[in-house]
Amino acid sequence: MQNQPARGKFIVFEGIDGAGKTTQISLLTAWLKSRGRAVHTTAEPTNSTIGGIIRDALEGLTEKTACEMTALFVADRIFHNTNPVSGIRNILASGQDVICDRYYYSTLAYQGSMTDYDWVSALNLQCPDILKPDLCVFLDLKPEVSLDRIARNRSVTEIYENIDTLKKVRDQFFNVFEQLKSRDRICVIDAGGTVEEVSESIIRAVSDLF
Ligand code: TMP
Repeated sequence: MQNQPARGKFIVFEGIDGAGKTTQISLLTAWLKSRGRAVHTTAEPTNSTIGGIIRDALEGLTEKTACEMTALFVADRIFHNTNPVSGIRNILASGQDVICDRYYYSTLAYQGSMTDYDWVSALNLQCPDILKPDLCVFLDLKPEVSLDRIARNRSVTEIYENIDTLKKVRDQFFNVFEQLKSRDRICVIDAGGTVEEVSESIIRAVSDLF
């Protein structure tokens, strides 16, 4: 009988919009690969049918309540964990590391600040099909700076990309981390430094996993 490969590591990146997740995920992926690890990068919302419904709402093409958005993100997340082709569960079991751009911390911070937090939390944290990550890397940036980056880099502005929402969501991320600190491994990184400084801090946090 063949030996099962060691399970990969599951690393999630979080941050308010414009915090620099995409750049840092590429750099961490390159670093892990240079150390001989197989890495699968992914993101939420996913490219599934539900992900498409979510994206339409984020772009303001359709209108959804915070409860509807919560349910859609949770359904998308369950699919993301369990689908047999590219599901996180199977990929980790095959020995690859999974780096995911956003996960349940986002639902707890965004939707959790817009509707009943306990309900949002239970849907995510008590769902047997939603895996707990090995590490959550939170890139922390002041909303003023993140909005400036968004304005310079993108033509379409999404519904949450305004100063009041991002301030509320950033505060909520810290409330969420306080609540989850004995349950989840969370590393808060100042994303205001240079790309290289931020990357070095992330690599230090990820190295502790091995
Ligand atoms: P992105 O711009 O990082 O792709 O994220 C899309 C937007 O969706 C961003 O504004 C955050 C939001 N979002 C939530 O509100 N709840 C969630 O659970 C997730 C995954 C994203």
